[in-house]
Amino acid sequence: MASAGRPSPDMEPLYFELQSDFGITKHMGGRKATHELIELCHLEAGQSVLEVGCGIGSTTRYLAGECGLLVTAVDISPRMVERARERAKRRGVAARVEFKVVDAQQLPFAEASFDAVIDESVTAFVQDKQRALGEYVRVAKPGGYVGLNEATWVKLPPPELVRYTAMIMAGADFLTAEGWQALLEGAGLGELSTRQHPFDARSQYIQELRQLDVREYLAAWYRFLTQSAINPAYRKFMQQVMSAPGQIFKFIKHIGYGIYVGRKLN
Ligand SMILES: C[S@@+](CC[C@H](N)C(=O)[O-])C[C@H]1O[C@@H](n2cnc3c(N)ncnc32)[C@H](O)[C@@H]1O
Repeated sequence: MASAGRPSPDMEPLYFELQSDFGITKHMGGRKATHELIELCHLEAGQSVLEVGCGIGSTTRYLAGECGLLVTAVDISPRMVERARERAKRRGVAARVEFKVVDAQQLPFAEASFDAVIDESVTAFVQDKQRALGEYVRVAKPGGYVGLNEATWVKLPPPELVRYTAMIMAGADFLTAEGWQALLEGAGLGELSTRQHPFDARSQYIQELRQLDVREYLAAWYRFLTQSAINPAYRKFMQQVMSAPGQIFKFIKHIGYGIYVGRKLN
């Protein structure tokens, strides 16, 4: 299992602060990966789902809208939750979503509250992953599913790449497929289904466009590019990214994503 060093403390919030500001959060595989997660969690209209780490709420809107699920969407960042709430209102699905600012490691919900608990690119950022998994399992109903879509090292990364990704991505600590599986097993989940996919830049952008509408997507990138020229926080982030440009290409070769789903058996 690969493990990362932590970033400098001031970088940790910056990565997500900027994302909530320009209005895009991501997970690998985009909408296609969300479909796989929904399929493997056997989610059906009318069921309840907890979405941990909802970010700006693109999947939240989809789960509540097209999928007809009753969604509780949580994130540790108040600005993300605000963004997600605005999006749900704008897209007419607010009545089917409850939002809360919450840490994945300490969920304020009763045992057996949800038919499924899902996350997309969240647990990699959580300090105590096993504790978070324990919480996901606790709040899932017996017979319900816990499903993760998480970035996965498909090739063991050299230590400097692990340090670089942790530094630029808020302490992200990606695991291998075996590492993610072990977390699910360690939390007592059974009937595991897992799938892994390599990273494909072209397909990633197409999938991201499917998640946001084109106007939102272009507006977010316009904001990112203009702010990168004038805003010190954005400039600081870009300097960190560009401090080792070679690592970006290495990252693309070593990273992929996986869907990891298990069932709460009792
Ligand atoms: C890479 S973004 C993914 C967001 C969203 N799932 C998506 O696919 O667009 C990770 C999200 O996890 C949230 N997050 C990080 N640590 C968390 C924690 N301990 N508890 C809850 N949310 C957390 C961040 O605020 C951020 O919104």
